[in-house]
Amino acid sequence: MEVDVVGTLRAAFPDLENDALEKLSGLVRCTTYPPDTLICKEGAYEYVFYLIVRGTVAITKHFDSQNERVLRHSTAGDFFGEMALIQDEPRSANVRTIDDTTVLEFDREVFEHLMASSPNLAWRMVRTTFDRLRSNDQAALSDLRDALQTLQRLDRAKLDFIEIAAHELRTPLTVIQGYADVLRSDTRIQADSNLRTVIDGVVNGTARLHDVMNRMLDISKIDTETLQVSRVPVLLQSVFTELKHDFQDALAERNLTLLIKQIGEIPFMEADPNLVYKIFYHLLINAIKYTPDGGTITITCWVTEVEGMGRAVAVVVEDTGIGIDQRHQKAIFEKFYQIGEVALHSSGKTSFKGGGPGLGLALVKGAVEAHGGMVWVESRGCDEETLPGSAFKVLLPLRIPDNMSGES
Ligand code: CMP
Repeated sequence: MEVDVVGTLRAAFPDLENDALEKLSGLVRCTTYPPDTLICKEGAYEYVFYLIVRGTVAITKHFDSQNERVLRHSTAGDFFGEMALIQDEPRSANVRTIDDTTVLEFDREVFEHLMASSPNLAWRMVRTTFDRLRSNDQAALSDLRDALQTLQRLDRAKLDFIEIAAHELRTPLTVIQGYADVLRSDTRIQADSNLRTVIDGVVNGTARLHDVMNRMLDISKIDTETLQVSRVPVLLQSVFTELKHDFQDALAERNLTLLIKQIGEIPFMEADPNLVYKIFYHLLINAIKYTPDGGTITITCWVTEVEGMGRAVAVVVEDTGIGIDQRHQKAIFEKFYQIGEVALHSSGKTSFKGGGPGLGLALVKGAVEAHGGMVWVESRGCDEETLPGSAFKVLLPLRIPDNMSGES
């Protein structure tokens, strides 16, 4: 096909004089590409500008590793490939031919010469680039909004599932527990130590399942913001004493020392005793799980003044365990987050590196925040040889802020 190069250039750049158009026509290449040719590759450093003489191209962009989104189709008279040249950046999108497509190709120097020859044309080009950038931003934003909505829907579905599953499992579990208790008190079983061990296993197993399900329900309440926080006077020392008592067997079995240090007076605080117990229960059980036998866990607490929170109790639960890698330090507070392969965890509740459903710290965070407090972790990293340890730091205000949901 005969191409009228000057005519095509004139239609695209009406500001240029005839002799400029003539000169330009000698500097551009006229090329025809078959269908499905990738002329511009997103991310590539290519510096050629194109003007479409005939045919159609699709301009697409990857919004994630799998999905490519069509931004628009361009036809005769449209140009593309200007952004990489103007911004001196890699290609912002893919440009692929749909059918046989003929283009005029401008190398970088020719394009720059063209820009310099007419301020009007240069302005038009810059304006087009900004329009295209803006429309790409909007497309990306709208994709992100859709993705967010999908995630929120999935999260909601997950919470509904958790809630239903936990409720549905609770009834048969309670039945099993009831029968197991009956069997345990039967004199024939009492007399047989083998059977007693079996029944004890069933009773302990169901108690643990109950525990996990209650935690799942707590998490769904935190996520749906239906967690009720009672406001009663709580003495932190009593909570720690209770925990020390509840964990004494596990501590002894793993040869771990638990030290409780109180700096100064700790007054009664307004809090939900159940939730406060759960906060430190999970921090303690994690410290036990990730500290090798023979280690030390120290709980230190004192009263301090925190900006934006007022008077608060600061508690640090520190261990001499394997520590936590920097990249996991935020994510461990998300529900169902597990470090390492779940299959490699040992299964005991307080055994070294014992697994769990990954809900404990999410519950800690939810419960602390429901009191208007904060929790975070500090650790120099994870190392099973040097044992850098972890320090979980909790700030709980002495008075729950008025805007927190809960019962007085
Ligand atoms: P460049 O980034 O060099 O290479 C890909 C080209 O696709 C880009 O220049 C523009 O010419 C073109 N392009 C990118 N986004 C759009 C858009 N929203 N509308 C039209 N063309 C675009």
